[in-house]
Amino acid sequence: MKNIILSGLLLFITTTVAKAQNNTEASVTTDWQNSLIPQPVSLIKQSGYFILPNNLSVLFTKNEALKKIADQLAQQLQTATNTISVKDNNAAAANTIFLSLTNDKSIPAEGYRLKVAADGIIITAKEPAGIFYGVQTLVQLLPGQIENKDNKKPVTEWAAPLVTIEDAPRFGWRGLMLDVSRHFFTVAQVKDYINQMAKYKFNLLHLHLTDDQGWRIQIKALPKLTEVGAWRVDKTGTFGKFSKPEPNEPKTYGGFYTQEDIKELVQYASERFINIMPEIDIPGHSLAALASYPNLSCTPGTYAVNSGEQFMIWPGGGKHFYGTLDNTLCPANEQVYDFIDKVFTEVAQLFPFAYIHMGGDETARNFWEKNDQIKALMKKENLKNLDEVQSYFVKRVEKIIASKGKKMIGWDEILQGGLAPNATVMSWRGMKFGIEAAKLGHEVVMSPTDFAYLDYMQGDAIMEPPVYASLRLKKAYQFEPLPEGVDAKLIKGGQANLWTEQVYNMRHAQYMIWPRAFAIAEALWSPKEKRDWNDFVPRVEKQMERYDVAGIKYAPSMYDAIFEVRKKDTATIIVSLSTEVEGLSIHYSFDNSFPDNFYPAYTTPLTVPKDAAAMKVITYRNNKPIGRMMVMPITELRKRAGIK
Ligand code: ACM
Repeated sequence: MKNIILSGLLLFITTTVAKAQNNTEASVTTDWQNSLIPQPVSLIKQSGYFILPNNLSVLFTKNEALKKIADQLAQQLQTATNTISVKDNNAAAANTIFLSLTNDKSIPAEGYRLKVAADGIIITAKEPAGIFYGVQTLVQLLPGQIENKDNKKPVTEWAAPLVTIEDAPRFGWRGLMLDVSRHFFTVAQVKDYINQMAKYKFNLLHLHLTDDQGWRIQIKALPKLTEVGAWRVDKTGTFGKFSKPEPNEPKTYGGFYTQEDIKELVQYASERFINIMPEIDIPGHSLAALASYPNLSCTPGTYAVNSGEQFMIWPGGGKHFYGTLDNTLCPANEQVYDFIDKVFTEVAQLFPFAYIHMGGDETARNFWEKNDQIKALMKKENLKNLDEVQSYFVKRVEKIIASKGKKMIGWDEILQGGLAPNATVMSWRGMKFGIEAAKLGHEVVMSPTDFAYLDYMQGDAIMEPPVYASLRLKKAYQFEPLPEGVDAKLIKGGQANLWTEQVYNMRHAQYMIWPRAFAIAEALWSPKEKRDWNDFVPRVEKQMERYDVAGIKYAPSMYDAIFEVRKKDTATIIVSLSTEVEGLSIHYSFDNSFPDNFYPAYTTPLTVPKDAAAMKVITYRNNKPIGRMMVMPITELRKRAGIK
């Protein structure tokens, strides 16, 4: 029965779309809604559609890179056509897709023009990257079923709306970071991550390759880094709170990328116009290196790769910290600089990208403080404090990186004690250190925790896997990488970071990335004046529909209710409810039953009944549940209201 109704419906859509194709002036009955992310610079829509013919040709200006792009497009369009051919050609032809390189200097770097006309599609750019981004836009113009990789049989009419798009990115650095140290992701999984990035016009994958919990890149001159440093005890639960491993517990969790793997990933990414930037995080975050080569510590002893048990302590909630064991490379030990030279020699050869990231963040220096070697170094080099010791180290690392023909970038702690002369700063503790670095004339990439940390919870803590901080989609959408009063030329762009302490598998990584990375993609690509939350939300929802087809996970947290709690008198709790997305109704109960849309709709702040045990809340849109059922213990509300 369902199928009969469905095929009837399809017939209707087919007929009306076909009509639109035959007469583009005719009114369009299938109403196309712009669902593009990131929003292009300009989009002019005409009524009507171009219907992909059953025998489709993708033509391209003769060029190796364009051939690869055309092949990838043909691969994607296989779901949509019976036969598809790819060939070079000097000009467009009727009913084809033509990828056209031009000398037109008026098209900006990475920019493109896309014209979908009634008799064919042309994408024009002055470089292959632009053609690639035009293709990504074209794929988003096609029905979401294009993402269905299981079903070769077309289930929709393959029509693209008639549009003229002119587009180019706002920033040249559009990054996503993946931490492969805390949890390891296979080459195939990283390729999937790259595929998803490419769809939204990200052009930089920052791989956090080393940390206390694992060294993930083969260095041929230092084999123990992966023989020892890539493996730890396998634990399940809440990372950071695991029990201490037993002395001889088998180290079965881990993995690393061989140099062949790295070459494969670099090549795969480059075919999608994505650079890969390696990060080797030193001098802190180095337990995996020390487990392999303990002589690199100021306090040599027996080290093990951290398996998720606590060893860094943040008293008073965040700013200050110390280590209960020494996880740092010793800046006073010449062997350390030999080690770094060997590592960066091989890293520089493997990654063509101009920058190497040396970490530099969160170096616990409590063991340096008491160390005789460090004291001797301070005296010899006239270093007044530990900031200057750290800066001495970073400046030497910069020289090593420069000697390999690369530029150094580091987390914003590299400002402490004086910045290395040519360093680029990745500002993560807010934007302020990025602003400070730019004022000193240094290049900056903005990646602030407040807008761009994808490891943070994206909704209420009662609904999300626990992490110590939150970042909702709406806040991520307010990311503005270019602060007022700094030289725009120095702000290279921005990126979002997925740290993976609490991310045990790729499905959960997807949940953490999407939809927030849509917001970041738009902040980095689209014109600032086009930023509009209420316009963004329906486009996000369209992308979510495509993810459903593709089988990619995303967080639905933006539909959940937001609790704001205060106390009245000493014991009464007042709850205000709201939503990130407009147009939802919020229904609640205090009687332990599960509310639906027949329950009271929230309108004004509520007084929690004295004897209630739980408040249950759900959101609806058009009489359909859309948010998740939230079960809020009253004990939790009491805590949030500050009632003992
Ligand atoms: C960082 O989040 N520690 C850079």
